[in-house]
Amino acid sequence: LADTYFLFSGLIGRSWAMVFAAGGLKVKLYDIAQQQLTSALENIRKQMKELEDSGFLKGTLSVEQQLALISICTDLTAAVEGATFIQECTPENLELKKKIFGQLDLIVGDNVILSSSTSCLLPSKLFTGLKHVKQCIVSHPVNPPYFVPLVEIVPHPETDPSTTERTYALMKKIGQSPVKLNREIEGFVLNRLQYAVISEAWRLVGEGVVSPTDLDLVMSDGLGMRYAFIGPLETMHLNAEGISNYCERYCEGMRLVLSTFGPVPEFSGETEQKINQALSEKIPSVPKVLDARRKWRDECLAALAKLKKEIKSD
Ligand code: NAI
Repeated sequence: LADTYFLFSGLIGRSWAMVFAAGGLKVKLYDIAQQQLTSALENIRKQMKELEDSGFLKGTLSVEQQLALISICTDLTAAVEGATFIQECTPENLELKKKIFGQLDLIVGDNVILSSSTSCLLPSKLFTGLKHVKQCIVSHPVNPPYFVPLVEIVPHPETDPSTTERTYALMKKIGQSPVKLNREIEGFVLNRLQYAVISEAWRLVGEGVVSPTDLDLVMSDGLGMRYAFIGPLETMHLNAEGISNYCERYCEGMRLVLSTFGPVPEFSGETEQKINQALSEKIPSVPKVLDARRKWRDECLAALAKLKKEIKSD
């Protein structure tokens, strides 16, 4: 019997299901509400068709073959049956997730991996006290996982190294780009980097140094161009004759600039109004406009993912 992978069916659960199916793996979608599952399947079918039409469908299987790999289930025990990997994708609520992992803990065997999609709940909060804690891990995706392949793999202090290795290998197998954290930390790595950028962006706009629109351009037409291909550390390496040379040349300057950074922003008040006004002028905060812009963003990401793949295979 082929391994099955069991997932939950919200926004992220659906994306995971598409990524798993594109990798040729059998998945079961579980949810408390039948209606949620039926609409998840419809939505997946629609998305796959659109991806096929635009040439962005992942994997070597056809839409029908991929859809045939996805089944739905509203009974937790039946969903767990035959599953070797469970990717939890319920809302970001500690109590709810603890309840679900508590239920799963009672019915899974010793060989199943229990993985959470949480964006910011620490494994020690989620998994401590579970009988199967050695099999528990966080696999944090980035939205939309179909085009942004990074997955942060974050172990609980008691997670067995083989759980980490198996999760890492599975993510590779389905074409994602896993990274391993050696220990848990608030925000994991992605959000720590993201928040560092957001807080300085907020301060620069708040202090009137640059307009909100121009601030965003610094990233999308500046730093972001490089960051889609090389990280900040390799950037340093290439921007001088290697890292050591970069540090020699620029450490004083960097430390000087860094010492002028302000405190953690409140993310409210005047600066919020200013940023809100600028962004609302460009993209009014109404569902139709936001959805259209998200669609455009995802098309850009799809094209970038394709380009990155072509460049890699050269
Ligand atoms: P969502 O609200 O779209 O989906 C949650 C799903 O859980 C719904 O289908 C809901 O019916 C189901 N659900 C609620 N209670 C349940 C229960 N007791 N048993 C089974 N299913 C239940 O949420 P979304 O955005 O998909 O987020 C899921 C997780 O993924 C969260 O932990 C979030 O932090 C994480 N995540 C979300 C990202 C995003 O951009 N949306 C990015 C990375 C991670």
